[in-house]
Amino acid sequence: MEIVILPSAAEVGVLAARKIARVVRDKPDAVLGLATGSSPLAIYAALAEQTRDGSLDVSRVSAFALDEYVGIPAEHPESYAAVIAREVTGPLHLDPAGVQVPDGRAVDLEAAGERYEEAIRAAGGVDLQILGIGANGHVGFNEPTSSFASRTRIKTLTERTRSDNARFFDSADDVPTHCLTQGLGTIMDARELLLVAQGPAKAAAVAAAVEGPVTSMCPASILQHHRRATIMVDEDAAARLTLGDYYRWTYAHKPSWQQF
Ligand code: F6R
Repeated sequence: MEIVILPSAAEVGVLAARKIARVVRDKPDAVLGLATGSSPLAIYAALAEQTRDGSLDVSRVSAFALDEYVGIPAEHPESYAAVIAREVTGPLHLDPAGVQVPDGRAVDLEAAGERYEEAIRAAGGVDLQILGIGANGHVGFNEPTSSFASRTRIKTLTERTRSDNARFFDSADDVPTHCLTQGLGTIMDARELLLVAQGPAKAAAVAAAVEGPVTSMCPASILQHHRRATIMVDEDAAARLTLGDYYRWTYAHKPSWQQF
């Protein structure tokens, strides 16, 4: 894994967007994996800015979201279908037909998960998957003890996740209890992973994911087994990393041909 520690949350957004833009320039029809939540918002804003000023062309990019709540209508402003439309598809002017979100309203959720897996396969797989991390170490909505082999399926949200996400809803009781999420096996199939985290609330999860044992108790720790995983964090989220100085030194001395 490559660990990049940056002075501020804003710089995480800018550098992550630069890395994604490079992927798209190298492969104009790249398939991106999208995360929702607060962590990637600065990335989407930076990418939207680059598409506005003409320095980035995303017209051939397609995308798959990581997850969707079960039990809220698509038009609910906090459904991930609505969030992706508002924060990504619209601002980047992506073709909506090329942007998919798991169908959390399907009557047969198991079949919906299988269809989603098939759609990702048919698109040729995900070139770069953007990830946030939950305070309990989840990626996607793969809560602790999720199988490392899991594929897109229904999951029950932990109380911790529901209370963390209550800020998006009128009341804590309104936060859905279930979701349809890409599995850890699905995420690990992406050709490249980019996890971003900002703020002190993520420090323990980041340390466990990067330096702890690979364990389903911290689902993000499976990233240690990915060949191309980059973790970009601000100083607050990096605060509990034992080898922080090494990561800072490594990034400062990154060979020019390896720059983002
Ligand atoms: C969202 C997702 C989650 C979030 C995580 C962090 O699609 O898959 O894993 O990335 O819960 O959320 P924020 O960024 O809001 O702290």
